[in-house]
Parts: sequence; structure tokens; C-alpha cells
Amino acid sequence: MTDYRELIRAAFAAREKAYTPYSGFQVGAALLAKDGTVYEGCNIENASYGATNCAERTAFFRAVFDGKRDFSAIAVVGGKTGGEYVEAWPCGICRQVMAEFCDMDTFEVIIAVSEEDYHVYTLKEILPHAFSPSNLI
Ligand code: THU
Repeated sequence: MTDYRELIRAAFAAREKAYTPYSGFQVGAALLAKDGTVYEGCNIENASYGATNCAERTAFFRAVFDGKRDFSAIAVVGGKTGGEYVEAWPCGICRQVMAEFCDMDTFEVIIAVSEEDYHVYTLKEILPHAFSPSNLI
């Protein structure tokens, strides 16, 4: 299995940028493009709560804007400000965004609470029976 410590470290750095005045739950994500570039993202909340953008989508949208379409993994870390790190599972909308760009069988989602303590799942494991671009062909 790939050593994801560096990617997790990038996710922790990204978490520092989280804008979370409403939930206080800070999330960081680090998305690894197949060319080796890492795109970091944090959650960005909004007074109109539904306008909040999750850390994972921030990372994806930065990468896509930068011209990237091929990705191999994303590390996600989270926890309340000043509290313990907890497993931060990607929400359904973020999983759907992953399904738009990533291979279901090989793209890896790393849920970490530290650089040493993490679990790795394929996208298919966390989003079975996805509605994906291939459904529209
Ligand atoms: N959040 C993320 O950014 N990613 C996740 O994986 C789960 C939830 C954010 C959204 C919101 O700002 C806060 O966590 C609480 O739901």
C-alpha cells in the first residue's frame, strides 16, 4: 500500500485555512493528481449554511480550474477547533464530485486522524452504484 503520510500532512496544513464560524468543525483535504501535484482544500462556510463548500470540493475545484482531470487519491482530516481529530467522512455531494473525475476502482480515499493512523478506501467502496458520466452515454 502506498505511504500516504506526506499527503496527510498536506491535508492537516490545509485544515488550518478552514473558515468555520458556524460549525467550528475544520476539515482539510489534499488531492493527489496523477502528475504528482497536490491540491489542498479546506471547508468554507457561509451564513446561508447550504452555500458551504466542503474541503474535498475546494481541492477538486482548484485542481480542475488548474487544468487537471486525472487523480489518484485524496486525504481528508477533520475535527473541531482545539479538539481531537476525528474521522471526517466525505459527504454525499463530495463523493459525487469524486465520481465525476475519478476511477471508481482505483481512486483512493484516505480518512486520517494522524499521519500514522488512517484507513484507505476505494471510491467504489464509499460510493457503490454511483451515477456517473458513463450513465449518460
Ligand atoms: N465538511 C467537510 O468539509 N468535509 C467533510 O468530509 C465533512 C463535512 C464540512 C462542512 C461543514 O463546514 C462542516 O464540515 C460541518 O459539517
